[in-house]
Amino acid sequence: MISRYGKKLQMLESKGRLRSLHPFEKSSSGKVEHNGRTLLNLSSNDYLGLGQDIVLRKRFYQGLEDGSSEFFGLAAASSRLLTGDSPLAHDLEHDLAAAYNAEAVLLFNSGYHANIGILPALYGKGDLILSDKLNHASIHDGLGLSRAEHKRFSHCDYDQLESLLNKYRNRFDQVVIVSESVFSMDGDVADITRLVEIKKEFHAKLYLDEAHGVGLYGENGLGMAEELGLIQEIDFLVGTFGKALASIGAFICCSREIRDYLINHSRSFIFTTGLPPVTLNWNRFVFQHMLGMKEQRQHLKNISSRLRLALIEKKIKTGGSTNIVPVLIGEDSAAVAQAKAMQDNGFLILPVRPPSIPEGTARFRLSLCANMQWQDLQELPGLLDALTDGAHGEK
Ligand SMILES: Cc1ncc(COP(=O)(O)O)c(C=O)c1O
Repeated sequence: MISRYGKKLQMLESKGRLRSLHPFEKSSSGKVEHNGRTLLNLSSNDYLGLGQDIVLRKRFYQGLEDGSSEFFGLAAASSRLLTGDSPLAHDLEHDLAAAYNAEAVLLFNSGYHANIGILPALYGKGDLILSDKLNHASIHDGLGLSRAEHKRFSHCDYDQLESLLNKYRNRFDQVVIVSESVFSMDGDVADITRLVEIKKEFHAKLYLDEAHGVGLYGENGLGMAEELGLIQEIDFLVGTFGKALASIGAFICCSREIRDYLINHSRSFIFTTGLPPVTLNWNRFVFQHMLGMKEQRQHLKNISSRLRLALIEKKIKTGGSTNIVPVLIGEDSAAVAQAKAMQDNGFLILPVRPPSIPEGTARFRLSLCANMQWQDLQELPGLLDALTDGAHGEK
C-alpha cells in the first residue's frame, strides 16, 4: 500500500515538480564541483563572491589565532531574551544602525524569521496589510500568521494599490504596504519612490524587504533605498545576511519603540535560540568589508547588463534590470530538461517551478555574482538560444 505521502511525491514527480537535495562542493570564482565536473554556479545568492573569498575567510579566522576565542563561540545556547544575548549582537546592531542612520536595529535569525515575525507582531485585528503579489513566500507566510486583513495587489501595479487604499484606507486603523525592493524571481525593481509617495498620501507605513538589494546598490551597498536616497522614508527596512553578505541572519531598521515592541511581541524573535557568536562576529566583519566593495558592484552591473542585452538580441524571453536575470520557459518539464542540458554544458542552472513562482511561468533564474567574468558567461546566450529553439521551435 502506497502511503498518501508517497502518492503526493509520485504526483509531484509526474508533473516535473519533485524537489530534491544535491550536495555541491564549492570551489572558487563562482564555480562548483558536481559529479566530478566544474560548473559555473548560476544558482547562488553569493552575489559579491564573499562566501568563496578564502583570503577574507582566513583574515577573519586570524582573530581566533590572536586569542579572542569568545568571538568564535558556536552556541548562543538560548534565546536572546534568556542568556543568548551578547555584546556582539548589540555591536552588530549598532554598526547597522550607524550605517543606515537608523534610530534602532533588531537582528533576526534569518530573513524568513524576520518576515514571519515582524508583520504578525505589529499588525492585528482592525489593520490592513497590502502586499505585492510577487513578494517572497516568507512575506506571504507572515501575512498568514497575522490577524490583520491582507490583500495582494498585482505585481508593481501601484494604480491598483492606490485604488485599494482609496476604497479601504478609512475602514482600517493602521495600514502597511509590503514590497521587496529587488524581486527575487524576476530581477525587477519596485518603484520605491512611488511607494513612498503613496504611503505618505494615505498615512500608511512602508515595509521594504531588501534581501536582494543589500550589498549591491547604493554608494555603500546598503540597498535600493540607499541608491534612491530614500532610506529615511522607509518605516521598516529589512535586510538579510543570507545573500550578498555570505552568512545567515537578518535585521530590521526601525524606530526604538518598534524595536522594543518586537522584542516583546515577535514570536520568531522570542522563541528561538540566538545567532551564535561566530556568526555575529562574521556578520560584523563581512558587513564592514561589503561597504567598500564599489568596484565589485560596478563589475556585477556591467556583466549583468551585458548578459541581458545578449539574451534580448537572441530574442530569448527575459526581463528585469538587476543581477538576477530570468529566462522564461513556461512548462515545468521543459525547464527541468533544459536545466539538465545546461548542466551538461558546464552551467549550474536549476529550474525554478511553482509554488516558488506562478503556475505556467517555470524559468531559469540566472543569478550573476561579482566574482564571475564575462568570459565565463559569453557562451550562455548561444546555448540558451539553441536549447529553447530545440524545445519549442519558437521563443
Ligand atoms: C525577498 C526575500 N526575503 C526573504 C528571504 C529569506 O531570507 P533568508 O534566506 O535570510 O531566510 C528571501 C530568500 O530567498 C527572499 O528572497
